[in-house]
Amino acid sequence: MKISVIGCGYLGAVHAAAMASIGHDVIGVDVDVRKVEALSNAKAPFFEPGLPELLAAGVANGNLRFTTDISEVQGARIHFIGVGTPQQRGGYAADLTYVNAAVDALVPFLSPGDIVAGKSTVPVGTAEQLASRVSAAGATLVWNPEFLREGWAVQDTIDPDRLVVGVPAGAAGEDAAQALRELYYPATDKGTPFIVTDYATAELVKVSANAFLATKISFINAMAEIAEVTGADVTQLADAIGHDARIGRRFLGAGIGFGGGCLPKDIRAFAARAEELGKGESVGFLREVDAINLRRRERAVELVSLALDGSVYGRKVTVLGAAFKPHSDDIRDSPALDVAVRLHGLGAVVTVTDPEAIENARRAHPQLGFEEDRDTALRGAEAVVVVTEWDEYRKNLDPVAAGELVDKRVVVDGRNCLDPTQWRAAGWTYFGMGRP
Ligand code: UDX
Repeated sequence: MKISVIGCGYLGAVHAAAMASIGHDVIGVDVDVRKVEALSNAKAPFFEPGLPELLAAGVANGNLRFTTDISEVQGARIHFIGVGTPQQRGGYAADLTYVNAAVDALVPFLSPGDIVAGKSTVPVGTAEQLASRVSAAGATLVWNPEFLREGWAVQDTIDPDRLVVGVPAGAAGEDAAQALRELYYPATDKGTPFIVTDYATAELVKVSANAFLATKISFINAMAEIAEVTGADVTQLADAIGHDARIGRRFLGAGIGFGGGCLPKDIRAFAARAEELGKGESVGFLREVDAINLRRRERAVELVSLALDGSVYGRKVTVLGAAFKPHSDDIRDSPALDVAVRLHGLGAVVTVTDPEAIENARRAHPQLGFEEDRDTALRGAEAVVVVTEWDEYRKNLDPVAAGELVDKRVVVDGRNCLDPTQWRAAGWTYFGMGRP
């Protein structure tokens, strides 16, 4: 099938490359000339495992092209919108500027019978508002939210848990749903749930899924706060409640909390939208979810201070991690980087290392010290803080060898990803989040 993808960021670039890899003829469009140049040369503009291989194959076999010229989308049957919906400046609501601009730019090049498939995460009610602009051109708008996780984006795009399509009532909507079913044939052929619904439900599925995940993380982090004043161990608590299949252990990782380009801004946009709808109280708990999440960053800083006898001022602190999670170079709303920035603000001499995110982190926070090499970063440290659970820090860092490099064997495990027994046996003073 011939398709176009408008917006080639974390979502669009992966979608374009993944669709090309399953045999579709894909044109990706972005306004950023440098991004289009990189993608056209099969260079991924960000770190995402598996993406470089798909880009190389798609560009080489001609299934995948990128352009800044939106008129080149003509002839495609489905046009995906994968532009960003960031948090508004000075507010909590989603900024829909890019979605509106993408639709405006696309409409003149639509042909009757085309399908426009929104993928961006939008406030409920957005599709309904956009639909008439698309149908005026004889095309049909559907909303097909994306659930990909960074770091697993390729796999999640080709083999998702479920597919959701919000369509308008009537034959055009049914035809559009069928076209998407065919497009996603590797998943739909093998029986992946394919849910056809209305616009509002499709939009809400996405934001409510993210709200639920954020709530799960903040729930366990709230338990960590209680564990801290009672001497309980939140990781054992999570294991124990996680055995209940109704609860489940996933997303019960207590630590410095969630960040990234989705969960923080999506729960805020959801709360803002609910307020507009007169139902702010229905999701009022999301404010607590947000507040708990932000408190955990502060707690990590407090632990470092505690570990250094009350003050980090002038002390050498090595921060292991900058990305908001492993397998990503994304530093958007990264709790890891926030902890580093706060420590720096309190006068600590901070050295940050990360396997993939240093370049992005340095651009955003040039005031911090950076070091590519983990072991060099550890040399002379008076405290080590683990804030992104990369294998390099979690699995492949030997506490005995690391102990030889640092000045003081003090570690704050902001992701509860180290084995305290092993680290203590190697002579380290270990501090976890919600652990004794
Ligand atoms: C999320 C959703 O998972 C995905 O379905 C949606 O499409 C986009 O938003 P992503 O932002 O890539 O994906 O990250 P995710 O893996 O969900 O992690 C989010 C944050 O939560 C990370 O900062 C991670 O470190 C943190 N987290 C996750 C925890 O603190 N504890 C956990 O147990 C799990």
